[in-house]
Amino acid sequence: MAETMDVLVTNIGQLLTMASSGPKAGKEMQTLEVIEGAVLGIKDGKVAFTGTADEAAGLTASETIDCGGKLVTPGLVDPHTHAVFGGSREHEMALKQQGVPYLDILKQGGGILSTVEATRAASEEELVRKSSFYLDRMLSLGTTTAEVKSGYGLDVNTELKQLYVTKKLQDKHPVDLVSTFLGAHAIPKSHKDNSDVFLEEMSGMLQQVKDEKLAEFVDIFTETGVFTVEQSEKYLRKAKEYGFGLKIHADEIDPLGGTEMAAGLGAVSADHLVGSTDEGIRKMAESRTVAVLLPGTTFYLGKHTYARARKMIEEGVIVSLATDFNPGSSPTENLQLIMTIAALQLKMSPEEIWNAVTVNAAHAIGRTEQAGQLKEGRNADIVIWDAANYKYIPYHYGVNHVNTVLKNGKVVYQ
Ligand code: NIG
Ligand code: FE
Repeated sequence: MAETMDVLVTNIGQLLTMASSGPKAGKEMQTLEVIEGAVLGIKDGKVAFTGTADEAAGLTASETIDCGGKLVTPGLVDPHTHAVFGGSREHEMALKQQGVPYLDILKQGGGILSTVEATRAASEEELVRKSSFYLDRMLSLGTTTAEVKSGYGLDVNTELKQLYVTKKLQDKHPVDLVSTFLGAHAIPKSHKDNSDVFLEEMSGMLQQVKDEKLAEFVDIFTETGVFTVEQSEKYLRKAKEYGFGLKIHADEIDPLGGTEMAAGLGAVSADHLVGSTDEGIRKMAESRTVAVLLPGTTFYLGKHTYARARKMIEEGVIVSLATDFNPGSSPTENLQLIMTIAALQLKMSPEEIWNAVTVNAAHAIGRTEQAGQLKEGRNADIVIWDAANYKYIPYHYGVNHVNTVLKNGKVVYQ
Protein backbone atom coordinates (compact mmCIF):
# COMPACT_ATOMS: atom_id res chain seq x y z
CA MET A 1 0.00 0.00 0.00
CA ALA A 2 1.53 3.36 -0.98
CA GLU A 3 -0.76 6.01 0.32
CA THR A 4 0.04 9.43 1.76
CA MET A 5 -1.54 10.52 5.01
CA ASP A 6 -1.36 13.93 6.70
CA VAL A 7 -0.36 12.39 10.02
CA LEU A 8 0.74 8.90 11.01
CA VAL A 9 0.36 7.95 14.67
CA THR A 10 2.84 5.12 15.07
CA ASN A 11 4.18 2.72 17.69
CA ILE A 12 0.80 2.51 19.46
CA GLY A 13 1.01 -0.10 22.23
CA GLN A 14 -2.72 -0.67 22.30
CA LEU A 15 -5.28 1.01 20.04
CA LEU A 16 -8.92 0.99 21.08
CA THR A 17 -10.70 1.51 17.79
CA MET A 18 -14.20 0.81 19.18
CA ALA A 19 -14.94 -0.03 15.53
CA SER A 20 -18.22 -1.84 16.13
CA SER A 21 -21.31 -1.43 14.00
CA GLY A 22 -22.77 1.02 16.52
CA PRO A 23 -23.76 1.40 20.16
CA LYS A 24 -23.58 -1.71 22.29
CA ALA A 25 -26.42 -3.01 24.42
CA GLY A 26 -26.10 -5.14 27.54
CA LYS A 27 -23.56 -7.97 27.30
CA GLU A 28 -22.21 -6.70 23.97
CA MET A 29 -20.57 -4.05 26.15
CA GLN A 30 -18.11 -6.70 27.30
CA THR A 31 -16.47 -6.69 23.87
CA LEU A 32 -13.81 -4.21 22.86
CA GLU A 33 -12.11 -3.72 19.50
CA VAL A 34 -8.37 -3.55 20.20
CA ILE A 35 -5.32 -3.60 17.93
CA GLU A 36 -1.98 -4.31 19.61
CA GLY A 37 1.10 -2.73 18.03
CA ALA A 38 -0.97 -0.42 15.88
CA VAL A 39 -0.64 2.51 13.50
CA LEU A 40 -3.34 5.10 12.82
CA GLY A 41 -3.43 7.32 9.75
CA ILE A 42 -5.16 10.71 9.52
CA LYS A 43 -6.21 12.54 6.39
CA ASP A 44 -8.22 15.77 6.21
CA GLY A 45 -8.96 15.62 9.93
CA LYS A 46 -10.53 12.17 9.67
CA VAL A 47 -9.33 8.69 10.50
CA ALA A 48 -8.11 7.18 7.23
CA PHE A 49 -6.34 4.03 8.39
CA THR A 50 -6.10 1.76 11.42
CA GLY A 51 -4.14 -1.48 11.49
CA THR A 52 -1.02 -3.26 12.62
CA ALA A 53 2.45 -1.95 11.86
CA ASP A 54 2.79 -4.66 9.18
CA GLU A 55 -0.44 -3.61 7.50
CA ALA A 56 0.74 0.00 7.58
CA ALA A 57 3.94 -0.76 5.65
CA GLY A 58 4.12 1.60 2.69
CA LEU A 59 2.04 4.36 4.28
CA THR A 60 3.79 7.72 4.34
CA ALA A 61 2.94 11.09 5.93
CA SER A 62 4.40 14.54 6.31
CA GLU A 63 4.07 14.28 10.10
CA THR A 64 4.60 11.34 12.41
CA ILE A 65 3.67 11.05 16.07
CA ASP A 66 5.57 8.23 17.77
CA CYS A 67 3.54 6.97 20.75
CA GLY A 68 6.35 4.96 22.29
CA GLY A 69 4.07 2.02 23.07
CA LYS A 70 1.33 4.05 24.75
CA LEU A 71 -2.42 3.44 24.82
CA VAL A 72 -4.45 5.34 22.19
CA THR A 73 -8.25 5.69 22.28
CA PRO A 74 -11.00 7.80 20.77
CA GLY A 75 -11.49 11.17 22.48
CA LEU A 76 -13.86 10.71 25.39
CA VAL A 77 -17.48 11.73 24.92
CA ASP A 78 -19.27 13.31 27.90
CA PRO A 79 -23.02 13.07 27.14
CA HIS A 80 -24.40 15.02 30.12
CA THR A 81 -23.04 18.33 31.42
CA HIS A 82 -24.34 21.67 32.64
CA ALA A 83 -21.12 23.49 31.71
CA VAL A 84 -22.60 27.00 31.26
CA PHE A 85 -23.43 28.64 34.59
CA GLY A 86 -22.72 31.69 36.72
CA GLY A 87 -21.09 31.57 40.16
CA SER A 88 -20.29 28.49 42.20
CA ARG A 89 -21.74 26.75 45.26
CA GLU A 90 -18.93 25.87 47.65
CA HIS A 91 -21.08 27.25 50.50
CA GLU A 92 -23.37 24.21 50.10
CA MET A 93 -20.59 21.88 51.23
CA ALA A 94 -21.23 22.74 54.90
CA LEU A 95 -25.00 22.18 54.47
CA LYS A 96 -24.23 18.78 52.97
CA GLN A 97 -21.99 17.92 55.90
CA GLN A 98 -24.88 18.77 58.24
CA GLY A 99 -27.00 16.30 56.30
CA VAL A 100 -29.35 18.79 54.60
CA PRO A 101 -30.75 16.89 51.57
CA TYR A 102 -30.20 18.23 48.03
CA LEU A 103 -33.93 18.73 47.41
CA ASP A 104 -34.32 20.62 50.73
CA ILE A 105 -31.58 23.06 49.72
CA LEU A 106 -33.50 23.61 46.47
CA LYS A 107 -36.80 24.03 48.34
CA GLN A 108 -35.23 26.77 50.46
CA GLY A 109 -34.32 28.70 47.30
CA GLY A 110 -30.71 27.50 47.18
CA GLY A 111 -29.20 24.84 44.95
CA ILE A 112 -30.16 25.24 41.30
CA LEU A 113 -32.02 28.47 42.17
CA SER A 114 -28.90 30.11 43.56
CA THR A 115 -27.03 29.29 40.33
CA VAL A 116 -30.00 30.76 38.43
CA GLU A 117 -29.46 34.10 40.21
CA ALA A 118 -25.74 34.06 39.41
CA THR A 119 -26.37 33.11 35.78
CA ARG A 120 -28.97 35.85 35.34
CA ALA A 121 -26.46 38.36 36.73
CA ALA A 122 -23.61 37.28 34.43
CA SER A 123 -23.07 38.79 30.98
CA GLU A 124 -22.88 36.62 27.88
CA GLU A 125 -19.16 37.42 27.59
CA GLU A 126 -18.50 36.42 31.20
CA LEU A 127 -20.26 33.12 30.68
CA VAL A 128 -18.33 32.44 27.47
CA ARG A 129 -15.05 33.08 29.30
CA LYS A 130 -16.02 30.97 32.30
CA SER A 131 -17.24 28.02 30.25
CA SER A 132 -14.22 28.18 27.91
CA PHE A 133 -12.06 27.64 30.96
CA TYR A 134 -14.06 24.54 31.93
CA LEU A 135 -13.98 23.23 28.37
CA ASP A 136 -10.20 23.70 28.24
CA ARG A 137 -10.01 21.58 31.35
CA MET A 138 -12.29 18.92 29.85
CA LEU A 139 -10.08 18.79 26.78
CA SER A 140 -6.97 18.42 28.91
CA LEU A 141 -8.68 15.45 30.60
CA GLY A 142 -9.40 13.77 27.26
CA THR A 143 -12.96 14.86 26.46
CA THR A 144 -13.34 15.93 22.83
CA THR A 145 -17.15 15.94 22.53
CA ALA A 146 -19.63 17.02 25.20
CA GLU A 147 -23.28 17.75 25.62
CA VAL A 148 -24.17 21.05 27.34
CA LYS A 149 -27.54 21.93 28.85
CA SER A 150 -29.17 25.27 29.53
CA GLY A 151 -31.42 25.45 32.58
CA TYR A 152 -29.90 28.11 34.84
CA GLY A 153 -32.00 30.89 33.35
CA LEU A 154 -35.56 29.74 33.95
CA ASP A 155 -36.79 32.81 32.13
CA VAL A 156 -36.91 33.38 28.40
CA ASN A 157 -34.06 35.87 28.19
CA THR A 158 -31.58 34.05 30.38
CA GLU A 159 -32.32 30.66 28.82
CA LEU A 160 -31.64 32.25 25.43
CA LYS A 161 -28.46 33.84 26.80
CA GLN A 162 -27.20 30.43 27.92
CA LEU A 163 -28.04 28.88 24.55
CA TYR A 164 -26.23 31.72 22.73
CA VAL A 165 -23.19 31.13 24.94
CA THR A 166 -23.19 27.47 23.91
CA LYS A 167 -23.53 28.50 20.27
CA LYS A 168 -20.53 30.82 20.55
CA LEU A 169 -18.52 28.06 22.20
CA GLN A 170 -19.53 25.67 19.43
CA ASP A 171 -17.93 28.08 16.99
CA LYS A 172 -14.77 28.86 18.92
CA HIS A 173 -13.83 25.95 21.17
CA PRO A 174 -12.15 22.73 19.98
CA VAL A 175 -14.43 20.54 22.10
CA ASP A 176 -17.46 19.64 19.95
CA LEU A 177 -20.61 20.67 21.79
CA VAL A 178 -24.11 19.30 21.50
CA SER A 179 -26.73 21.66 22.89
CA THR A 180 -29.75 20.70 25.00
CA PHE A 181 -32.55 23.05 26.06
CA LEU A 182 -33.29 22.41 29.76
CA GLY A 183 -35.62 25.33 30.46
CA ALA A 184 -37.60 22.88 32.63
CA HIS A 185 -34.77 22.40 35.14
CA ALA A 186 -36.51 23.79 38.25
CA ILE A 187 -39.48 25.96 39.16
CA PRO A 188 -38.33 29.59 39.43
CA LYS A 189 -39.33 31.59 42.52
CA SER A 190 -41.64 33.72 40.36
CA HIS A 191 -43.77 30.63 39.56
CA LYS A 192 -43.44 28.84 42.90
CA ASP A 193 -47.09 27.81 43.00
CA ASN A 194 -47.72 27.65 39.33
CA SER A 195 -45.39 25.27 37.59
CA ASP A 196 -47.90 24.64 34.76
CA VAL A 197 -47.76 28.30 33.74
CA PHE A 198 -43.95 28.13 33.85
CA LEU A 199 -43.89 25.06 31.61
CA GLU A 200 -46.20 26.88 29.17
CA GLU A 201 -43.63 29.68 29.05
CA MET A 202 -40.79 27.27 28.36
CA SER A 203 -42.91 25.47 25.72
CA GLY A 204 -43.40 28.86 24.15
CA MET A 205 -39.63 29.03 23.49
CA LEU A 206 -39.47 25.79 21.50
CA GLN A 207 -40.25 27.40 18.15
CA GLN A 208 -37.47 29.97 18.49
CA VAL A 209 -34.98 27.40 19.79
CA LYS A 210 -35.79 25.29 16.74
CA ASP A 211 -35.72 28.15 14.23
CA GLU A 212 -32.38 29.49 15.47
CA LYS A 213 -30.95 25.95 15.82
CA LEU A 214 -30.05 26.65 19.43
CA ALA A 215 -30.52 23.06 20.65
CA GLU A 216 -30.94 19.54 19.31
CA PHE A 217 -32.43 18.06 22.47
CA VAL A 218 -35.00 19.03 25.08
CA ASP A 219 -34.60 17.82 28.67
CA ILE A 220 -36.65 18.09 31.89
CA PHE A 221 -35.97 17.41 35.58
CA THR A 222 -38.71 14.94 36.56
CA GLU A 223 -38.43 14.83 40.35
CA THR A 224 -40.26 15.33 43.63
CA GLY A 225 -40.87 19.05 44.14
CA VAL A 226 -39.86 19.82 40.55
CA PHE A 227 -41.92 18.40 37.63
CA THR A 228 -44.25 15.42 37.81
CA VAL A 229 -44.27 12.57 35.30
CA GLU A 230 -47.58 13.89 33.89
CA GLN A 231 -46.23 17.42 33.42
CA SER A 232 -43.01 16.05 31.94
CA GLU A 233 -44.78 13.82 29.46
CA LYS A 234 -46.99 16.64 28.21
CA TYR A 235 -44.01 18.96 27.82
CA LEU A 236 -41.81 16.38 26.12
CA ARG A 237 -44.56 15.34 23.68
CA LYS A 238 -44.74 18.95 22.59
CA ALA A 239 -40.94 19.07 22.16
CA LYS A 240 -41.12 15.89 20.09
CA GLU A 241 -43.70 17.48 17.80
CA TYR A 242 -41.16 20.23 17.09
CA GLY A 243 -38.65 17.55 16.12
CA PHE A 244 -36.37 17.71 19.15
CA GLY A 245 -34.69 14.59 20.49
CA LEU A 246 -35.66 13.94 24.10
CA LYS A 247 -33.55 13.56 27.24
CA ILE A 248 -34.82 13.21 30.79
CA HIS A 249 -33.36 13.67 34.29
CA ALA A 250 -35.21 10.57 35.47
CA ASP A 251 -35.48 8.87 38.87
CA GLU A 252 -32.38 10.66 40.22
CA ILE A 253 -33.54 10.91 43.81
CA ASP A 254 -37.06 9.50 44.06
CA PRO A 255 -38.36 6.71 41.79
CA LEU A 256 -41.25 8.54 40.13
CA GLY A 257 -41.40 6.54 36.90
CA GLY A 258 -39.32 8.81 34.68
CA THR A 259 -37.45 5.76 33.36
CA GLU A 260 -40.61 4.12 32.04
CA MET A 261 -41.73 7.44 30.58
CA ALA A 262 -38.41 7.95 28.77
CA ALA A 263 -38.49 4.51 27.17
CA GLY A 264 -42.17 4.93 26.27
CA LEU A 265 -41.55 8.28 24.58
CA GLY A 266 -38.57 6.94 22.62
CA ALA A 267 -36.21 9.40 24.31
CA VAL A 268 -32.64 9.37 23.05
CA SER A 269 -31.47 9.03 26.64
CA ALA A 270 -32.71 8.75 30.20
CA ASP A 271 -30.19 10.05 32.69
CA HIS A 272 -29.37 9.31 36.38
CA LEU A 273 -31.75 6.30 36.87
CA VAL A 274 -30.66 5.72 40.47
CA GLY A 275 -34.19 4.77 41.50
CA SER A 276 -35.27 2.92 38.35
CA THR A 277 -37.59 -0.02 39.03
CA ASP A 278 -37.19 -3.50 37.50
CA GLU A 279 -40.04 -2.63 35.17
CA GLY A 280 -38.32 0.61 34.15
CA ILE A 281 -35.10 -1.23 33.36
CA ARG A 282 -36.99 -3.84 31.34
CA LYS A 283 -38.66 -1.08 29.31
CA MET A 284 -35.27 0.56 28.71
CA ALA A 285 -33.90 -2.77 27.44
CA GLU A 286 -36.80 -3.07 24.99
CA SER A 287 -36.14 0.45 23.70
CA ARG A 288 -33.08 2.09 22.10
CA THR A 289 -33.04 4.74 24.82
CA VAL A 290 -29.54 5.05 26.29
CA ALA A 291 -29.15 4.92 30.08
CA VAL A 292 -26.72 7.74 30.90
CA LEU A 293 -25.44 6.93 34.39
CA LEU A 294 -23.89 9.66 36.55
CA PRO A 295 -22.19 7.93 39.48
CA GLY A 296 -20.13 11.06 40.26
CA THR A 297 -23.40 12.72 41.29
CA THR A 298 -24.38 9.90 43.65
CA PHE A 299 -20.87 10.05 45.12
CA TYR A 300 -20.95 13.83 45.52
CA LEU A 301 -24.45 13.86 47.03
CA GLY A 302 -23.02 11.51 49.66
CA LYS A 303 -25.42 8.70 48.84
CA HIS A 304 -24.69 5.04 49.07
CA THR A 305 -27.20 3.63 46.63
CA TYR A 306 -26.00 3.82 43.05
CA ALA A 307 -27.79 3.18 39.75
CA ARG A 308 -28.13 -0.55 39.10
CA ALA A 309 -25.72 -0.78 36.19
CA ARG A 310 -25.21 -4.56 36.52
CA LYS A 311 -28.94 -5.21 36.29
CA MET A 312 -29.21 -2.83 33.32
CA ILE A 313 -26.38 -4.57 31.47
CA GLU A 314 -27.78 -8.03 32.21
CA GLU A 315 -31.17 -6.96 30.89
CA GLY A 316 -29.68 -5.58 27.66
CA VAL A 317 -29.77 -1.80 28.16
CA ILE A 318 -27.37 0.50 26.24
CA VAL A 319 -25.40 2.02 29.14
CA SER A 320 -23.31 5.17 29.00
CA LEU A 321 -21.48 7.30 31.59
CA ALA A 322 -21.14 11.08 32.03
CA THR A 323 -19.79 13.62 34.51
CA ASP A 324 -23.04 15.61 34.98
CA PHE A 325 -20.57 18.51 35.43
CA ASN A 326 -22.51 21.25 37.26
CA PRO A 327 -21.89 23.59 40.21
CA GLY A 328 -24.13 21.71 42.66
CA SER A 329 -24.40 17.95 42.48
CA SER A 330 -21.23 17.16 40.51
CA PRO A 331 -18.57 19.87 40.22
CA THR A 332 -16.06 17.95 38.10
CA GLU A 333 -15.03 17.97 34.45
CA ASN A 334 -13.10 14.74 34.95
CA LEU A 335 -14.58 11.77 33.09
CA GLN A 336 -11.55 9.66 34.10
CA LEU A 337 -12.64 9.99 37.72
CA ILE A 338 -16.17 8.91 36.75
CA MET A 339 -14.65 5.83 35.10
CA THR A 340 -13.10 4.88 38.44
CA ILE A 341 -16.34 5.45 40.37
CA ALA A 342 -18.15 3.34 37.75
CA ALA A 343 -15.66 0.53 38.32
CA LEU A 344 -15.86 0.66 42.10
CA GLN A 345 -19.52 1.49 42.71
CA LEU A 346 -21.37 0.39 39.57
CA LYS A 347 -19.16 -2.71 39.30
CA MET A 348 -18.65 -2.12 35.61
CA SER A 349 -15.74 -3.88 33.91
CA PRO A 350 -13.05 -1.85 32.10
CA GLU A 351 -14.47 -3.02 28.75
CA GLU A 352 -17.99 -1.89 29.68
CA ILE A 353 -16.64 1.43 30.93
CA TRP A 354 -14.72 2.16 27.71
CA ASN A 355 -17.80 1.42 25.61
CA ALA A 356 -19.81 3.65 27.94
CA VAL A 357 -17.58 6.72 27.49
CA THR A 358 -17.04 6.38 23.74
CA VAL A 359 -19.39 4.67 21.30
CA ASN A 360 -22.44 4.53 23.61
CA ALA A 361 -21.92 8.10 24.83
CA ALA A 362 -21.77 9.34 21.23
CA HIS A 363 -25.06 7.57 20.53
CA ALA A 364 -26.65 9.26 23.57
CA ILE A 365 -26.11 12.65 21.92
CA GLY A 366 -26.75 11.77 18.30
CA ARG A 367 -23.08 11.66 17.25
CA THR A 368 -22.74 7.96 16.36
CA GLU A 369 -21.39 8.81 12.90
CA GLN A 370 -18.80 11.35 14.08
CA ALA A 371 -17.38 10.54 17.50
CA GLY A 372 -16.59 7.71 19.88
CA GLN A 373 -14.93 5.40 17.35
CA LEU A 374 -11.65 5.38 15.45
CA LYS A 375 -12.62 3.97 12.10
CA GLU A 376 -12.38 5.30 8.57
CA GLY A 377 -14.29 8.51 8.06
CA ARG A 378 -14.76 9.33 11.74
CA ASN A 379 -13.34 12.52 13.25
CA ALA A 380 -9.68 12.07 14.17
CA ASP A 381 -10.42 12.87 17.82
CA ILE A 382 -7.73 10.93 19.59
CA VAL A 383 -6.21 10.63 23.05
CA ILE A 384 -2.69 9.32 23.66
CA TRP A 385 -2.49 8.18 27.29
CA ASP A 386 0.41 7.85 29.71
CA ALA A 387 -0.53 4.21 30.12
CA ALA A 388 0.21 0.97 28.32
CA ASN A 389 -3.28 -0.53 28.43
CA TYR A 390 -6.93 0.48 28.79
CA LYS A 391 -7.46 -1.19 32.18
CA TYR A 392 -4.97 1.24 33.72
CA ILE A 393 -7.16 4.35 33.35
CA PRO A 394 -10.00 3.48 35.77
CA TYR A 395 -7.51 1.77 38.09
CA HIS A 396 -5.06 4.60 38.89
CA TYR A 397 -7.45 7.25 40.11
CA GLY A 398 -7.70 10.96 40.83
CA VAL A 399 -4.99 12.08 38.41
CA ASN A 400 -4.91 12.99 34.73
CA HIS A 401 -3.44 10.27 32.52
CA VAL A 402 -3.69 12.25 29.28
CA ASN A 403 -0.46 12.71 27.35
CA THR A 404 -1.74 14.28 24.11
CA VAL A 405 -5.14 15.14 22.63
CA LEU A 406 -5.81 15.50 18.91
CA LYS A 407 -9.02 17.07 17.64
CA ASN A 408 -9.83 16.64 13.96
CA GLY A 409 -6.26 15.42 13.46
CA LYS A 410 -4.55 18.41 15.11
CA VAL A 411 -2.78 18.41 18.47
CA VAL A 412 -4.86 20.60 20.79
CA TYR A 413 -3.41 19.57 24.14
CA GLN A 414 -0.01 18.18 25.12
O1 NIG B 1 -28.22 16.56 36.98
N1 NIG B 1 -30.72 17.25 38.96
C1 NIG B 1 -30.77 18.25 38.32
N2 NIG B 1 -29.77 18.86 37.70
C2 NIG B 1 -28.39 18.65 37.97
C3 NIG B 1 -27.93 19.41 39.16
C4 NIG B 1 -27.93 20.85 38.94
C5 NIG B 1 -27.48 21.67 40.11
O2 NIG B 1 -27.51 21.23 41.27
O3 NIG B 1 -27.09 22.81 39.82
C6 NIG B 1 -28.10 17.18 38.03
O4 NIG B 1 -27.74 16.62 39.08
FE1 FE C 1 -27.79 16.85 35.14
